[in-house]
Amino acid sequence: MEKQLLRITVNTQYYELYIKPKALLVEVLRDHLDLTGTKRGCDSASCGLCTVILNGMAVKSCSILALQADGAQIFTIEGLADGSRLQPIQKAFLDHGAFQCGFCTPGMLMSSKAFLDENQNPTIEEIREAIHGNLCRCTGYNSILRAIKSVAEEISAREKTL
Ligand code: FES
Ligand code: FES
Repeated sequence: MEKQLLRITVNTQYYELYIKPKALLVEVLRDHLDLTGTKRGCDSASCGLCTVILNGMAVKSCSILALQADGAQIFTIEGLADGSRLQPIQKAFLDHGAFQCGFCTPGMLMSSKAFLDENQNPTIEEIREAIHGNLCRCTGYNSILRAIKSVAEEISAREKTL
């Protein structure tokens, strides 16, 4: 099958590449762009390991064709920190011990980041709902929920002082 042109911006870098029409977004990120921080697990939109932010929304990159993302702006885990400066959500995961093996962490962080960009004053129930598509086999979810909630509290405390 003839390859087709894909134009995407990933972590603020613009790319044009020729890909197979059936290539999944996760394959393009990992195999063409070498952004292997995005993990691959179930390949059936169940585990959330492959979550990235596409035009501001958390999506499972195993569940969409890369060509469906033509023209899109994508952020992966590699684009989250600013050099050595971690995003608040990354720092909160460290501070709250919200990971063990870390395999789910990139997807969990991308879901959390997209969620907090939309909802800066969430309840624990809303946070639970936001990450319900991200599975973690190690930590249990309490430390993850606490980490996300702590960032939301920081944001709202900052807003009150403005
Ligand atoms: S690999 Fe995409 S949801 Fe599991
Ligand atoms: S930290 Fe191991 S799967 Fe979540």
